[in-house]
Amino acid sequence: MSLTAESHRIPLSDGNSIPLLGLGTYADPQKTPKGTCMESVKIAIDTGYRHIDGAYVYFNEHEVGQAIREKIAEGKIKREDIFYCGKLWNTCHPPELVRPTLEKTLKILQLDYVDLYIIELPMAFKPGDAIYPRDENGKFIYHETNLCATWEAMEACKDAGLAKSIGVSNFNRRQLEMILNKPGLKHKPVSNQVECHPYFTQPKLLEFCRQHDIVIVGYSPLGTSRDETWVNVSSPPLLKDPVLNAIGKKYNKTAAQVALRFNIQRGVVVIPKSFNPQRIRENFQIFDFSLTEKEMKEIEALNKNIRYVELLM
Ligand code: A2P
Repeated sequence: MSLTAESHRIPLSDGNSIPLLGLGTYADPQKTPKGTCMESVKIAIDTGYRHIDGAYVYFNEHEVGQAIREKIAEGKIKREDIFYCGKLWNTCHPPELVRPTLEKTLKILQLDYVDLYIIELPMAFKPGDAIYPRDENGKFIYHETNLCATWEAMEACKDAGLAKSIGVSNFNRRQLEMILNKPGLKHKPVSNQVECHPYFTQPKLLEFCRQHDIVIVGYSPLGTSRDETWVNVSSPPLLKDPVLNAIGKKYNKTAAQVALRFNIQRGVVVIPKSFNPQRIRENFQIFDFSLTEKEMKEIEALNKNIRYVELLM
């Protein structure tokens, strides 16, 4: 398959398609000046990105929506050119909350539909206003979840046209099987968004997902921001890796570009986050070179099976 800056969509099992490269938009809201996300999404669209990954819990979905709408108003893009992925948060798993939660996201975005709506995590928190509900000892208050029932509510959102495609995130094989084996399953999850990069290549999950026509969307494809409040920094920085840098040197590319190219070349969607104009552009320059089979194997061999994002919730 030849991938180009203009054409790098891959098919989803429901007949839709997803661009292999998207812009991640999570940044600590405390440390990120207002408007930065909006500007970054606009720069990304001008650069050629057509896939934006966001979430209600990133607290900047309104900026993403505004950027997309402004670019449509400018005539730069049409709505159907853009692929936006939103996420159902942990406090909203009860089936009766799923559609209202997606409708809230659409209201924030001021869009009529999302291209992909995914269950952000397989475990649930107590429903309510608190995004991270905690008890008096500071411990998270969990909530029982019936993922199959939540999934049926997701299916209804697709049927209503509010989400073109539906998927999951942070699901392991067992959790995927719960959905895939659900009696009366109407729509399969088209994707599973999980951590994926050269130090965490996900060989087994990738194989399972390939067998079931589920696309892996790799988050933290550059090895995260290494923010110690949520990242396990005991694993060394990905972008300092000597192999990635040596391969990059050969092609006049950075380690970041090699890490991204590695994943898209094996059919894994990547959503690098950057709010820096130069790096947003850098991360898009991955369609003008390709890695040899030997280089792909060398990069695969870097796998350490250690997550940066441990999700210790
Ligand atoms: P910034 O937003 O300042 O560019 P990931 O997508 O793996 O979570 O990585 C995101 C982190 O990597 C952010 O801290 C981002 O910072 C940084 N980053 C994004 N692109 C690059 C790049 N090409 N080279 C180095 N760091 C990058």
